[in-house]
Amino acid sequence: MFIVGLTFDLKTDYIFKEEDPPDANAEFDHPSTIDVICEAIESLGYKTKRIGNIRNLLENIDNLGVDIVFNISEGLTGRNRESQVPILLEMKNIPFVGSDGLTLALTLDKIMTKKIMIAEKIPTPKFFEAKSSENYEMDSLKYPLIVKPRFEGSSKGLSDKSRVENEAQLKEQIDFIVKTYKQPALVEEFISGSEYTVAIIGNDENLEVFPPVQIKIDGRLKLGDKFYTFNRIFSDRLEYICPAKINASLRDKIMDLARRTYLAVECRDFGRVDFRIDEEGRLYVLEINPLPSLSTEDVFMTIARYLGTTYSSMIDKIIKSALKRYNLVA
Ligand SMILES: Nc1ncnc2c1ncn2[C@@H]1O[C@H](COP(=O)(O)OP(=O)(O)O)[C@@H](O)[C@H]1O
Ligand SMILES: [Mg+2]
Repeated sequence: MFIVGLTFDLKTDYIFKEEDPPDANAEFDHPSTIDVICEAIESLGYKTKRIGNIRNLLENIDNLGVDIVFNISEGLTGRNRESQVPILLEMKNIPFVGSDGLTLALTLDKIMTKKIMIAEKIPTPKFFEAKSSENYEMDSLKYPLIVKPRFEGSSKGLSDKSRVENEAQLKEQIDFIVKTYKQPALVEEFISGSEYTVAIIGNDENLEVFPPVQIKIDGRLKLGDKFYTFNRIFSDRLEYICPAKINASLRDKIMDLARRTYLAVECRDFGRVDFRIDEEGRLYVLEINPLPSLSTEDVFMTIARYLGTTYSSMIDKIIKSALKRYNLVA
């Protein structure tokens, strides 16, 4: 029987260090997400084997006894953390679902990704990097700005204070990011307007770009100053709307930009691209996530519901994309 191994990091496995911010384990999965992924994979007729995190993988790497690994491990430390599991698997010639180490490290680093977007003429908000509150060049950027950590995900480091309107607030927020997350801050022009995210499954010429999902905050689609903070993720003030309330031509533009971004960073099997549209209708790509959440509370499930299909059929498409890439028959 075909065996699918799973690599992942659990919120419950994370041991908080004294200096850790409260969102230190935000990217990790709930045990229930691993349960539903396993159930979905088993309902497709495969066997599953839970490998666990990178330490478990290292202990067992020569005797995994799996045909392919479904990797959703976020990794533990540093900006290459998401690449660590894929690189071990690659070294041992073990096939795995999802992007490789290069794409995962590249896209976790939002500044490196923006440089690729600029080279590919994919619109992204104007930005600068701040290594400290004394060491940055504002160039031609205009307030309001948003201050984010350079290599985090899941809205880590984002609170209502992240949107800044003057130099004093900007410096305070840069100091907070540098000190708390031990990395440079990415400062961008704040795009006031609406927000969307586009899920994609597949590879190269066999891409399935799904209809955009729109983000509603506090019951509103016109977001104004609102954005997706760490605290909002866990509140019912944030909703996913599918289909997005936009006309067909805008929808097609977003989907095309999502496809171009996915291909530009050589994402594999699945991913999700985050967008904002300003009040004049200009599109901006914020970032691409090659390890988007597969929780049933999240976007992939919203899309499955809209399309009248099931969570397992989405997981099936993801696994089939990987099998095809490796020329494997399950
Ligand atoms: N330039 C921006 N203008 C307005 N809102 C932004 C901007 N950048 C990020 N945000 C808000 O912050 C959220 C998280 O930012 P994002 O770049 O997607 O990082 P991540 O999801 O990895 O934490 C976005 O979903 C959006 O609501
Ligand atoms: Mg995002």
